[in-house]
Amino acid sequence: MRRKFIAGNWKMNLSRAESVALASGLAQQLGDATDVDVAVCPPSVYLDAVHQAISGSHIALGAQNMYHEAAGAYTGEISASMLQDVGCAYVILGHSERRHVLGETDAAINLKVQAALAAGLLPIVCVGEKLEEREAGQTASVVKTQFEGSLAGLTAEQMQQTVIAYEPVWAIGTGKVASPAQAEAVHADLRKLLETSYNSEVAAAVRIQYGGSVKPSNAAELLGQPNIDGALVGGASLKVEDFMGIISGARA
Ligand code: PGA
Repeated sequence: MRRKFIAGNWKMNLSRAESVALASGLAQQLGDATDVDVAVCPPSVYLDAVHQAISGSHIALGAQNMYHEAAGAYTGEISASMLQDVGCAYVILGHSERRHVLGETDAAINLKVQAALAAGLLPIVCVGEKLEEREAGQTASVVKTQFEGSLAGLTAEQMQQTVIAYEPVWAIGTGKVASPAQAEAVHADLRKLLETSYNSEVAAAVRIQYGGSVKPSNAAELLGQPNIDGALVGGASLKVEDFMGIISGARA
């Protein structure tokens, strides 16, 4: 049985004080509950402060990106071990904004995934089609190419430690949410890819989150789909009440 996993991707939002207040508020509201896995991914400069704010809670810390090299002359970049040093358990890799705004390729993402796993960080690897790709009937092939490229070379054991997030680009930050049936179809395709690339044990174990305008009002229906194991939440992760509402949706 895959435990639901709700992660908040704060992107480039909030001040230090707001980040700490949000993290503390969530830690307080979540209390001792462990039935749903929860993580928050603040901007990297606030990781340390947020780590302190959630210490003693069941909330895990995640980063939004990292570089694949372990150390050296890579101005502006952050390594896996640095993220672990400030308390990260997870790292989001290949988010669509990194793919399409910052130009990250599947090959670059794959290097990061490999480096994260080698260091013991758990990657949340994002895949998803753009609107024109969906309209051209290319959703399945785009997602398959990203799956194969971003996750190339992982052992079965490494694959089981990896979380996949299906995030249709047209649904991110737009208020347009994939219908539960649209999302479930892609999630089921991804699970089939896991089965054909690995085996049924791996396919049954890997958690596949949905992301794209998840809100308290649509969370329960999305998370009720058989192959949707959680949510990667942007906008609605910035308010305690909204994020808690989505966590409640995972319990429904
Ligand atoms: P959104 O973002 O919830 O604001 O659509 C999701 C994401 O990009 O991870």
